[in-house]
Amino acid sequence: MATEQTAIEEQQQQKVSEIFEKFPEITENFHNFTRIGEGTFSTVYQGIYINENNFSLAFKVLVPTSGPDRVEKEIQMLRVLNGQQNVITLLTCMRQEDIYILVMPHFPHQKFQTFFLTFTTQDTQKYMRALLEAIQHVHKFNIIHRDIKPSNFLYNRISGQCRLVDFGLAQYLGVSNDATTEIREISTPLSRFKENEHSSKKRLPDSIGCNNRHSDIEVCNICNGRPSQQVSRAGTPGFRAPEVLLKYSPHTVLIDMWAAGIILISILSRRYPFFKSQDDITALGHITTIFGTEAVQIAARAMNKKLTCQPYVKGFELSHLCRELRGVISQAGKINTPETNKSIISPKTISDIQEVNTSQPGTPRRSIRLKHKDTGSTDSSVICEKVKEDKRSADPYPDDVYDLLKAMLELNPKVRLTANKALEHAFFKIDFTEQKVADYAEE
Ligand SMILES: Nc1ncnc2c1ncn2[C@@H]1O[C@H](COP(=O)(O)OP(=O)(O)OP(=O)(O)O)[C@@H](O)[C@H]1O
Ligand SMILES: [Mg+2]
Repeated sequence: MATEQTAIEEQQQQKVSEIFEKFPEITENFHNFTRIGEGTFSTVYQGIYINENNFSLAFKVLVPTSGPDRVEKEIQMLRVLNGQQNVITLLTCMRQEDIYILVMPHFPHQKFQTFFLTFTTQDTQKYMRALLEAIQHVHKFNIIHRDIKPSNFLYNRISGQCRLVDFGLAQYLGVSNDATTEIREISTPLSRFKENEHSSKKRLPDSIGCNNRHSDIEVCNICNGRPSQQVSRAGTPGFRAPEVLLKYSPHTVLIDMWAAGIILISILSRRYPFFKSQDDITALGHITTIFGTEAVQIAARAMNKKLTCQPYVKGFELSHLCRELRGVISQAGKINTPETNKSIISPKTISDIQEVNTSQPGTPRRSIRLKHKDTGSTDSSVICEKVKEDKRSADPYPDDVYDLLKAMLELNPKVRLTANKALEHAFFKIDFTEQKVADYAEE
């Protein structure tokens, strides 16, 4: 086992050497390259400055298959954003053959999973303010980040500093004073190529629904047979906004606000990932479970889409859901950790909601059963009714944070909160300095 591990490490070291030996400007000044991140499109290394052990840089090595347009976009966005307002600084960019390296300051941070469970109200306020400030800066330039998620928002809990990274999926929108209006994309020659690849010229049907009745939320054969609507769906499953899932276009900057809302609900419910959806239909099913069939259908209609789903689910009141999942228990005046959580909804994450694959040979059919494990009920009111009012008083979070959450997780992008408005929200005006002590005392 140990030799296997050593062999892997040696292989990786060999790979690192092969990459960096092509860049003598880097190897002459930096050494001890260690891999600190690995994504779909890149590997990120930390390199220590030869003359000073305390100084290091991050080298994002883009995979050769990621395509020059993606690389070009990322560089363009980082240059425009200029390392301001919690956005990472791009120091320089280098290229040798098909290898691109983006050079950035190394930003020490911790993984979201290691700190969000112990976040106090004050930590939540600080974190969300910093995230929204970064998003506000990005949106000011009419750029959609398109991949807002904790691993792209580096946070240092000790210093309270943060950096938004990873603009590989970001998208420029045209000039507009109102970032929420639907605007034309500015195409560079390379990105125009990409757009052609992804946007269909075909007139597409307005509805993704059909008149068939289904026993579960499912995609029937008729719908499966329809031509698919080709709209950019970049982003990470679980963080995709309803308009992305419903293939409503054009997208606005508000898809980032939805993703930021998903981060907030993770903090408030102590569940991460909150949605673990392997495909867009399942993701819509999960969203429907939480928000209810009617709300999702109304939002779909506002986007000129018709969504047909069975069974009818009522949805949750978000503040009740978060308190319940977090296991706010009033009896001893304590806040339970998820491990000791006696929540009515037992799944560790919402993604545990049962999924049933009813595919038969020759009859493609996907179905998700929206059923809560403990109660066996598909009616969320059964669960919500069990939420006692005393749990509200034991909750250190004020109602304002749930109000902010609801406004960020607004299903209809046309009425979703902008970053500017979110930062003006009452939640950010509360002084939690004293409550911080109370939060800790309760735990
Ligand atoms: N400047 C930096 N300082 C410290 N760590 C960094 C820096 N940039 C990136 N990382 C680390 O590398 C990881 C991957 O970086 P990034 O998201 O830019 O790459 P990616 O290939 O686009 O990732 P993914 O496909 O997972 O979104 C980050 O989550 C972070 O942990
Ligand atoms: Mg990333």
